[in-house]
Amino acid sequence: MKKLIGPFTQILPLTGLALKGALKDDDLQVIPQGGVLVENGLILSVDDFEGLRKANPSAQIQEITGDHVLLPGFVDCHTHICFAGTRAKDYAMRIQGKTYLEIAKAGGGIWDSVTQTRAADEDTLTQLLIQRAARHLSEGVTTIEVKSGYGLETQSELKQLRVIASAAEKTKASLVSTCLAAHMVPRDFSGTQAEYLSYVFHDLLPVIKNEGLSNRVDIFIEESAFDVENALIYLNRAKQMGFDITVHADQFTTGGSAVAVKSGAVSADHLEASKDTEIKLLANSNTVAVVLPGASLGLGMQYSPARKLLDADACLAIASDWNPGSAPMGDLLMQAAVMSAAEKLNTAEVFAGLTYRAAKALNLHDRGILAPGMRADMQAYPCNDYREILYQQGKLKPQIIY
Ligand code: NIG
Ligand code: FE
Repeated sequence: MKKLIGPFTQILPLTGLALKGALKDDDLQVIPQGGVLVENGLILSVDDFEGLRKANPSAQIQEITGDHVLLPGFVDCHTHICFAGTRAKDYAMRIQGKTYLEIAKAGGGIWDSVTQTRAADEDTLTQLLIQRAARHLSEGVTTIEVKSGYGLETQSELKQLRVIASAAEKTKASLVSTCLAAHMVPRDFSGTQAEYLSYVFHDLLPVIKNEGLSNRVDIFIEESAFDVENALIYLNRAKQMGFDITVHADQFTTGGSAVAVKSGAVSADHLEASKDTEIKLLANSNTVAVVLPGASLGLGMQYSPARKLLDADACLAIASDWNPGSAPMGDLLMQAAVMSAAEKLNTAEVFAGLTYRAAKALNLHDRGILAPGMRADMQAYPCNDYREILYQQGKLKPQIIY
């Protein structure tokens, strides 16, 4: 049954915009008094509402009253929201000026979340994840990538990935899981980085493949986690197994983005420490550069060079990194809006980074723009001008439209 949804004061389909590089607000297509014709969850047409109504007299009408601006649902292509417990103690220490090492010595850091997440049962973790997904949905995020990485041994990593699969059946958000068993060498593993990665490769990745639990593999390349040489070997092996690759790159020190490009990663995420060399490398590749303003806000660090990345012609996506340690807030739109003021990203660039460019980072090609054949995955903001959305810095809450 065809359904016509509208009228919307403005529809921004985000079509006709480049996949890579800087954009201009003038290039944003705006359809006034628009409607969307849908059938079986897919878009048939996006056009003038009255025109669509006349051409489709038998379509059921879903009437929208009052001013609304329609956008594609946002895609948060980087989160760690499958966790138990809190790291409020870390945050209190950080704002007292304590260093990463001091916090880790006091029992904080990633390992603390591993301990708390390992101790939680599947039902508890599933409920927590569903609640977080519901909050994201209420803020317009309809697709959410969720990483494991707080298990760090086979059974606990599998538990996280199974929780993500089970939550996916109970939330209206679309969840995409990623194996981040290579988050750090767990403290209870007696062996080298190479030995741990080899254990993950032999013991965990085949089960994930066989059970279809994820088709993505991530690694944290950093002095405190994995080095470039070991990462490259691990990623190439994972890629040969058929996994898409993504990398936590250049957060504190450089090196990760080059590995990401070399291994043909779908995305290189973080990039706070990236300099001109790394920017050029990413811009000349097919790897999406994902910036995570929530981590800069949580850690009190500089933003990633988003403006420079766009000007160099990179494909730039913006994600929340929502996690219990470095990015506890999770409000994607607020973070994107605040960063855009500092980095001078225009509305078109921010919306692109939250939609079709973020979908590309997840290798998803059925969402992120409103066009025939795409998923009817939309959100409507209660305002009469699309510029209100970033101006209100995340305070305007959308209605999800399916
Ligand atoms: O993306 N950088 C590594 N991992 C996470 C932090 C996870 C944590 O602190 O629990 C991040 O910021
Ligand atoms: Fe992260």
